[in-house]
Amino acid sequence: MSAAGQEGAHPPAIRRAAVIGAGVMGAGIAAQIANAGTPVLLLDIVPGAAARAVQTMLKADPAPFMHRAAAKRVQPGDLDADFAKLAECDWIVEAIVERPDLKRALYGRLEGVRKAGSIVSSNTSTIPLRDLTAGLPDRFAADFLITHFFNPPRYMRLLELVAGPATRPDAVAAIRDFADRALGKTVVECRDTPGFIANRIGTLWLQSAINHAVDLRLTIEEADAVVGRPMGIPKTGVFGLIDLVGLDLMPHVANSLLATLPEGDAYRALHREHGTITGLIAAGRTGRKSGKGGFYTRAKDAEGNSL
Ligand code: NAI
Repeated sequence: MSAAGQEGAHPPAIRRAAVIGAGVMGAGIAAQIANAGTPVLLLDIVPGAAARAVQTMLKADPAPFMHRAAAKRVQPGDLDADFAKLAECDWIVEAIVERPDLKRALYGRLEGVRKAGSIVSSNTSTIPLRDLTAGLPDRFAADFLITHFFNPPRYMRLLELVAGPATRPDAVAAIRDFADRALGKTVVECRDTPGFIANRIGTLWLQSAINHAVDLRLTIEEADAVVGRPMGIPKTGVFGLIDLVGLDLMPHVANSLLATLPEGDAYRALHREHGTITGLIAAGRTGRKSGKGGFYTRAKDAEGNSL
């Protein structure tokens, strides 16, 4: 059988996807789905935000996150005006703000529109799956899982998949298969534990680096010069990574972990609120996406490149 024939024998289960939330992650995930050849609806609650995100994906520096030819496969829209279009989608990725109440409210709304058997997944960093499905119908829990992409989705190969006790095994298999074959991800299935795997570990060293920088009165540049390379992030450094992730996500991640980690967990001992982070968030300097920088006041990374 020819290679094309073999492809035909295994038709992709995901023929049309949607991403809700056109921020740092949602826009990047939609771009990857489009790059892989699959049409994707990209919706945001802020009117016009999804259309702007498509342009950002084409401009991203140093290389675009989306191929120019893929842009025609992304259909940007506004959440309320275009909500009914979600009925056509086989896979709906939720990538809105890291708040369980808002995510659950959106899922409840999805129940009124999505087609039977469509798969819904959340890009949550740290919210346990059981909290996301609480109070929702059984049929929602059967079609739901967590797909935790890493930032930036274009370059980070890892994808954490978390299924709940009610998740249909064929829904997990369809997403694992699509992520592996179409998106080129290395899929790791995780249990529904706080922070899953990568953030359970990653938050420890991020918090540790912040604490040391504050205690030792280091500048951001000094701290990143010392810890960036040993921690395996030589290009942006630790603080450049937080600028990339978005400073505003940090308190949500901390709250979620503190609410779920067992007593005596190492993160509890390390966690400290630093006025620096809350001050920067209050000033609107939430990192790269803010256009005002974040830790790097002049919006430069550890190597002096523009962020
Ligand atoms: P972001 O703040 O950049 O974007 C969130 C977007 O969702 C915004 O455009 C906002 O207007 C929109 N939004 C908010 N509420 C909405 C609603 N009810 N309906 C539709 N759109 C809504 O956030 P980011 O960083 O992209 O995070 C999104 C999710 O991805 C969060 O769950 C976060 O924990 C997770 N995540 C973030 C990573 C990061 O590095 N920033 C990495 C991995 C996961």
